[in-house]
Amino acid sequence: LSNTMVNYKVILDVDPGIDDAIATMIALQSLDIEVLGISTVNGNIGSRLGALNTLKILHALGRSDIPVLQGATKPLIKRRTVRPEYFHGKGGLGGLQLELPENKKILSKLRLSDFIESTLKSYRKGEVSIIATGPLTNIAKLFTDDNFSSTLGYLGEISIMGGAFGLDNETFGSFTKYAEFNFYSDPEAAKIVLDENQNLNRKVVGLDVTSNPLCTVDPELVRKLTKLKGTTLKTKITASLLGFAVSVRNTCNLHDVFAVAMLEKPSLFKLKKGRIEVILNGTMRGHSKFIEDNASSNHILVASDVNEKEFNNFLFSRLLKN
Ligand code: BDR
Ligand code: CA
Repeated sequence: LSNTMVNYKVILDVDPGIDDAIATMIALQSLDIEVLGISTVNGNIGSRLGALNTLKILHALGRSDIPVLQGATKPLIKRRTVRPEYFHGKGGLGGLQLELPENKKILSKLRLSDFIESTLKSYRKGEVSIIATGPLTNIAKLFTDDNFSSTLGYLGEISIMGGAFGLDNETFGSFTKYAEFNFYSDPEAAKIVLDENQNLNRKVVGLDVTSNPLCTVDPELVRKLTKLKGTTLKTKITASLLGFAVSVRNTCNLHDVFAVAMLEKPSLFKLKKGRIEVILNGTMRGHSKFIEDNASSNHILVASDVNEKEFNNFLFSRLLKN
């Protein structure tokens, strides 16, 4: 159902993952976003499992009309896969059991690049954007695909959750001492996607902003969710995902939701212009650095701060909506 009034037409690239799943649901709730498709990438879980998780959530929300595509099964170069199972639970959704829709062929058999190309070309230049909340493997593959280079110009912007830049606080790592998970999982891909010579609008929000201690969910919220009048499957899923997350670390940040907010409500963020370096080798593999450069002609903006109050309004109003 195509709605010409929405401001953003979006393809989500995710590795669900608890915060990816919540980010997906929050994007689906938005009146300003139309989700045209969802691709999955190897990250928190494998891309096939991620695709099945996505199909299940869409089915539960009655949105099986949205195509789901399985993307990369491994990082560009590094073959050993690392999984933060501790944070996302077995299967990626904290043990949540959901039905798969019966019609299995719903998992699109299209090649991801073909799907993205035909989607971008069905709209005006710049009309379709990508929100990327996993390792950047799928996007890097598009960037390096010669057949895709003429299509790239159709893309509006890419809103990325990844890296840690020490801008809002001192955070530079999480998964390792120096690196954030998405960039650590495929630093070669991050480097390609964030290449300063690439003529494409990119916005990046890193862990230093997404781990803001004033933008967390806590057990109280989960209690509120379970007590909501007229609970729906959507609030049940939300309560289950967040219940698992807060059982691991009492409060938790939903990192990937920031990438949705940054596309839909950029005014909630302070953004700085510059370039990003990603370290590929040694113990700092996956480490990211931001070098501010207002004069530069490149197209990379990095979030350095978020308006906590407004972000929380955005987040909680959607989480608590039946
Ligand atoms: C990122 O790592 C993943 O585990 C989350 O889904 C998020 O995308 C945060 O570092
Ligand atoms: Ca993610």
